[in-house]
Amino acid sequence: MANQLLKGKKGIIFGALDDQSIAWAVAEKCVEEGAQITLTNAPVALRFGQINELAEKLNAKVIPADATSMDDLSNLIDESMEVLGGKIDFILHSIGMSLNVRKKKDYTNLNYDWHHKTLDISAISFHRIMQLAYEKDAMNEWGSILALTYIASQRIFPDYSEMAEAKSLLESYARSFGYHFAKKNHVRVNTISQSPTLTTAGKGVAGFQDFYDYADKMSPLGNASGQECADYCIAMFSDLTRMVTMQNLYHDGGFSNMGMEPAVLGK
Ligand code: NAI
Repeated sequence: MANQLLKGKKGIIFGALDDQSIAWAVAEKCVEEGAQITLTNAPVALRFGQINELAEKLNAKVIPADATSMDDLSNLIDESMEVLGGKIDFILHSIGMSLNVRKKKDYTNLNYDWHHKTLDISAISFHRIMQLAYEKDAMNEWGSILALTYIASQRIFPDYSEMAEAKSLLESYARSFGYHFAKKNHVRVNTISQSPTLTTAGKGVAGFQDFYDYADKMSPLGNASGQECADYCIAMFSDLTRMVTMQNLYHDGGFSNMGMEPAVLGK
């Protein structure tokens, strides 16, 4: 149910590929809550995904940007401010891609060119976006910047491979840039660590369904859905969470604090 929590706010949403994407649900809820947004994704995703459908439904402009290109990102921020008519209040980074996982290279035998690319797309892009927004003074006072992450950044999940390092780096950027943005103009920066979710990126991880079922049993509240993640993002973009910054926030039904769950052993 909409409460106009984001009334009058302007935002940029990265990463809506299809209606399973977490960013898709976030975009829908942002507009329901009264925000105006622009949508962005890599040019290739615009050709193969369904983002234009979403844009039409939400009356939002799509601005293509490869998250590893400073030129694309710079243009995205300028054009978003133009279309939305002012500075930005919130940004969602919902981007992940592992070349080594995709090309089935084991963690113990990484291709380093691909590894660099993985880190660039999945983590350094977050710094690029924030650096540009900082330099351009594009964020409004008390704005909110979020990225989505996974607990494999902090604990071992062998099949998550090099994405574990990408997520560790992503979370570190939220802490470090969070400091500088807070000092500059009270902008907060956080990561949300989400349960396994059945999306294109999620299903790219080997044995995803087993992994999903395991987490669902292990979490006392069960896995958090993409829709529930979107609700949490709305709360973090709203003025109700203005003093939360530089945090990695678990949105996982309790999974991260579990030691042992008898149901996992079939008891
Ligand atoms: P998704 O596959 O729908 O979204 C990933 C997005 O990254 C896609 O829209 C894709 O086009 C975009 N992307 C890839 N390369 C790009 C580039 N060079 N430039 C710009 N965009 C690019 O999957 P999902 O699950 O919605 O992923 C969103 C975020 O949530 C990711 O950061 C993912 O790691 C994170 N996450 C996902 C979980 C899951 O189980 N699905 C669990 C925890 C976190």
